Amino acid sequence: MIRHMNIKRETKDNILEVTLNRPERLNALDWDMLAELRKLTLDITTDIAQGQAPRLVVLRSSSEKAFVAGADIKCFASDLARAQEFAAFGQEVISDFADIPVPKIAVIHGYALGGGLELALACDLIATTTQSIFGFPETGLGLVPGFGGTLRAALRIGTAGARRMIITGDKLTGDQALLLGLVDYCAPLDEFQSVLNTVIQQVISVSPLAVRSALILLNELEREVGIQALKREKDCFASLLASDEGKEGVRAFVEKRPPLFG
Ligand code: COA
Repeated sequence: MIRHMNIKRETKDNILEVTLNRPERLNALDWDMLAELRKLTLDITTDIAQGQAPRLVVLRSSSEKAFVAGADIKCFASDLARAQEFAAFGQEVISDFADIPVPKIAVIHGYALGGGLELALACDLIATTTQSIFGFPETGLGLVPGFGGTLRAALRIGTAGARRMIITGDKLTGDQALLLGLVDYCAPLDEFQSVLNTVIQQVISVSPLAVRSALILLNELEREVGIQALKREKDCFASLLASDEGKEGVRAFVEKRPPLFG
C-alpha cells in the first residue's frame, strides 16, 4: 500500500517527466519511494505493450540540494529480516527500472549518493551540473552498494573506477565524474538546461523503434552478465547487515555520530 505521492509524473510532447519529491529527506529511498518507482516501471511497461510508450523518461528531483542522498538508512535500522527484505526489494525495483526499453535520462543537481547513484546508473544517460556530488558512502556504513551499484558502476566505469569509488567512499564533483565516465554530460548550472535540451532533442529525433530495439539488446546483455553478480551483491549486503560492523554503521548514522569499526 503506497501512502504518499513522492514521485510526480507529467507527460509533455511524449516525454515523461518524473520528479522525485521527498525533499525533506533529500529523496532518500524508503519503502514508499521504492513502491512508487515499481509502479512507475509497471505503468511504463503497460504503455509500451499498448503502443503508447513515451519517447523518453526524464528523471529529476524537486530538491535544490539532492537528486537522491541514498537508500533511506533508517529502513536498515529495523529488525534484520525486514532490513534484508528492504535491500532485496530495492535491488529488484532498480533493476526492473533499468530494464525498461525506453531511454531514461537522470538529471542530477546536488547529491547522488549510494542508492541515488545506483538509481542514476539504472538510467541510460546521466546529465549533471558541475557542482553535484557523486559517491558510494556505503563502506563508511559497514555496507556495500546493494541496489545493483557494484555491477552497474563496474559496467560503466570499469572495475578499477568502481574499486576506487567504493573502497574510498570518495565524493566526486560533476566534472570529476565526467572525467571518470560516470556521467555523460556535465555543465555549470547556468548552461545546464541548454545542454540538456540538446540531448533531449537528439534522443527524440531518432527512430523510437530502433532505440527500443537497441535498449532491449543492451539490457539483455547486462542481465546475462549481471544476474549472478546481482545475486551475490544481495547476499553480501544481507550478511553485512547482520554483521557487527554493518549494525554499528547503521546505528551510528541514526544516532548522528561517527561509526566505530574494528
Ligand atoms: N537515509 C536516511 N535519511 C537521510 C539520508 C539517507 N540516506 N540522507 C539524508 N537523510 C536525512 C537526514 O538524516 C536529515 O534528516 P533529519 O532532518 O531528520 O536529521 C535530512 O535527510 C536532511 O539531511 P541533512 O543530513 O540534514 O543534510 P546535510 O546537507 O547536512 O547533509 C548529506 C547532506 C547528503 C551529506 C547527508 O544527509 C548524508 O550524509 N546522508 C547520507 C548519505 C549516505 O550515506 N547515503 C548512502 C546510503 S546507503
